[in-house]
Amino acid sequence: MNKVALITGVNGMDGSHLADFLLAKGYTVFGLERRTSRPNRSNTSHLEKNPNFHFVIGDLADQNSLLKALNQSKPQEVYNLAAQSFVGSSWTIPEQTSDINGLGVLRMLEAIREYQEQSGERVRFYQAATSEMFGKMVENPANETTPFYPRSPYGVAKLYGYWITKNYRESYGMFACSGILFNHESERRGIEFVTRKITDGVAKIKLGLESHITLGNLDSKRDWGYAPDYIRGMWMMLQADEPTDYVMATGKSHSVRDFLDLAFQEIGITDWEGYVKHDPRYMRPAEVDVLRGDATKAKEELGWEPETSLAEMVKIMVEEDLRWNRIVANQLSNR
Ligand code: GDD
Repeated sequence: MNKVALITGVNGMDGSHLADFLLAKGYTVFGLERRTSRPNRSNTSHLEKNPNFHFVIGDLADQNSLLKALNQSKPQEVYNLAAQSFVGSSWTIPEQTSDINGLGVLRMLEAIREYQEQSGERVRFYQAATSEMFGKMVENPANETTPFYPRSPYGVAKLYGYWITKNYRESYGMFACSGILFNHESERRGIEFVTRKITDGVAKIKLGLESHITLGNLDSKRDWGYAPDYIRGMWMMLQADEPTDYVMATGKSHSVRDFLDLAFQEIGITDWEGYVKHDPRYMRPAEVDVLRGDATKAKEELGWEPETSLAEMVKIMVEEDLRWNRIVANQLSNR
């Protein structure tokens, strides 16, 4: 019998890559999406006709909808990737962020508990925790024993999600674990995140569609990896003998400036300062200055390692944004 997985947040970057990964492994995949007047399937439209993939309506704000989704999909594995994922917006909508990123995890765990009791089946649960929980970085690089110091409503809410997952593992013996993933990006990244904002901006500059990119803090540093490498790590965590939490990171930290260097190099520009403007609107009330992770535990226990370098990832992202912007520009000029 093929395995069945339920992914929340399937339309996001991670959710869509994970669906592709699991389908390639022979899973049947159910993807939870919220009801909206227009489906947001730019990352998942290619799955609509796949007989092994099914959309299911549900919402982390509605526990009963989660139980229904579990009953409908009957999964062995649940990956909870749905969230208000943009740190910057968590100051604007702190309560919604806390509800979905914090209490949403509790609702899913409770739904799984009820589903397990009713069906007699066992479910393995993956929670998308984050390096934002380390925030001010008490220790650099951070590992699974580093104390947390979140710096945003987003980070605080995710910390609740992390602890409640650990608590349900210890309270009820559930196979529930958190991946403490450092920043990971791809060509499917939302345009509001700094990496995609840069690669899309660079592509538009190359094609003469824009004259500059407007950014906030260029000095902050992140441990950036390529999302498909991290998706593999999520799956490996749920195949382990015992549930536990893992840091996943490259161990290398680069500034937004470094990222700009690499992206502009792809279009043959080395002196990019004149193409980048500053706007204080993109600064945050409290910044995470630097993030760097130590993924030794994941390497030793799971055999997980990232395979794609930052330069390779930037190349993929710029090429894809060039391709996509060309298509859009051609469509507009043919109107
Ligand atoms: N978004 C954005 N836009 N960020 C900017 C900009 C800008 O114009 N200019 C500078 N930055 C800086 C931010 O201040 C931050 O220090 C850094 O670029 C990265 O910002 P984001 O790309 O928005 O990502 P993030 O690090 O805040 O959060 C991402 O990684 C977390 C893991 O550490 C998200 O994917 C989170 O969901 C994830 O948990």
